[in-house]
Amino acid sequence: MTHLDSASLARPSFLTDPDHDSGLAVFQSVRQALDAYDGDDAFCVLYPQAIAAAATQFLERFPGQVLYAVKANPHPAILQTLWAAGLRSFDVASIAEIDLVRQTAPDAKMYLMHPVKSRQTLRHAYAAGIRDFAYDSAAELAKIIEEIGGLSAADDAPLRLHLRLALANGAAKMSLAGKFGVEGGEAVSLLRAAAATGAELGITFHVGSQCHEPEDYRRAVGRVRALVDEAGVHLSSLDCGGGFPIAYPGMTPPPMDTYFAVIADALKAYGFTDIDILGEPGRALCAEGGSTLVRVELRKGDDLYINDGIYGSLFDAGTFDWVFPVKRHRLTSENDHTDGATPMRGFRLMGPTCDSHDILRGPFQLPVDMSEGDWIEIGHTGAYGQALASRFNGFGPTAVFAIAEQGFGDI
Ligand SMILES: Cc1ncc(COP(=O)(O)O)c(C=O)c1O
Repeated sequence: MTHLDSASLARPSFLTDPDHDSGLAVFQSVRQALDAYDGDDAFCVLYPQAIAAAATQFLERFPGQVLYAVKANPHPAILQTLWAAGLRSFDVASIAEIDLVRQTAPDAKMYLMHPVKSRQTLRHAYAAGIRDFAYDSAAELAKIIEEIGGLSAADDAPLRLHLRLALANGAAKMSLAGKFGVEGGEAVSLLRAAAATGAELGITFHVGSQCHEPEDYRRAVGRVRALVDEAGVHLSSLDCGGGFPIAYPGMTPPPMDTYFAVIADALKAYGFTDIDILGEPGRALCAEGGSTLVRVELRKGDDLYINDGIYGSLFDAGTFDWVFPVKRHRLTSENDHTDGATPMRGFRLMGPTCDSHDILRGPFQLPVDMSEGDWIEIGHTGAYGQALASRFNGFGPTAVFAIAEQGFGDI
């Protein structure tokens, strides 16, 4: 867990400006939010300071331009927080994300890095000022050129086509290797075909999410060098994608600076020194900036039945083979935190639907005396948690609050 120096952070405007309408009530702590909360559903909190700190780290140290992958969590308060921290570029995938970014950060630069887009999305994106598009097939390349290749706008910004490279999954906990990207001869001929359109050329890759091996990025940059040389084309940008990890209990990745150093070293070694370098972090910017608060409705042995689950904001927390951080908040006692005095025990968390998949196996270390009415803060749901929540079966979080404290704390 990163420890934050609040004095060095740009405080998001909605924490300090009473006139700013973020749509979020702000509480000093989760405990204060719980004391004020009179709803029955689970709810979510955002820690803007943690998000701003992560953004500052990337903006100061990543060796290129930082794009926020909006899919990780599109909440407007997150976009505002990132903007206030100095982040100006956003990776979007859909018309809804384009409109959301334009509305929330009107001067933002957007990149449409989804390799498959509808024709309407292409036209909408172009009208919204987007000139950077990913592709990984001749059909998608043709679609892009047919829809927007002939257009010319007053801004005169050139069209840039980013070929999505396929990579075998390395040390990423969540593979993104199964669907998008091309390699070998197909990549070479697509690069040449894109060059023939007169557009500028880029290459984009994604090593997979929550990647625990910085060297995976070096291997990817080396692969880009080989393909560019074989194709005999000039690149104007190289996008290193997302995949930057955070720590979960029992799972500590190498320090972020190691990733930045390996990428910087690889770019130099492979001669990518005079082109635009991009990165598209999602998880690393907002996962630690959000938690879900669930209430225990019933205890059966070591199973705690809670009011959110995998169809709400806990899909990742219940699906992957890593455990999310938890802590108890007990409202009836001063000692509501796990302060080391109460013995702990491993629990499973049972989601509220009848589906047998709706179980978070953990084990989640919580006080042995967990009981009905206790609240559990499930940390690190700021990325791919809150953004996925549905109202299946009428359950799921229905409120989001901002917390002025610096974050979830030690895990
Ligand atoms: C194109 C693209 N960019 C960026 C990301 C963000 O990845 P991460 O959250 O692992 O940083 C994703 C995640 O799926 C993606 O598909």
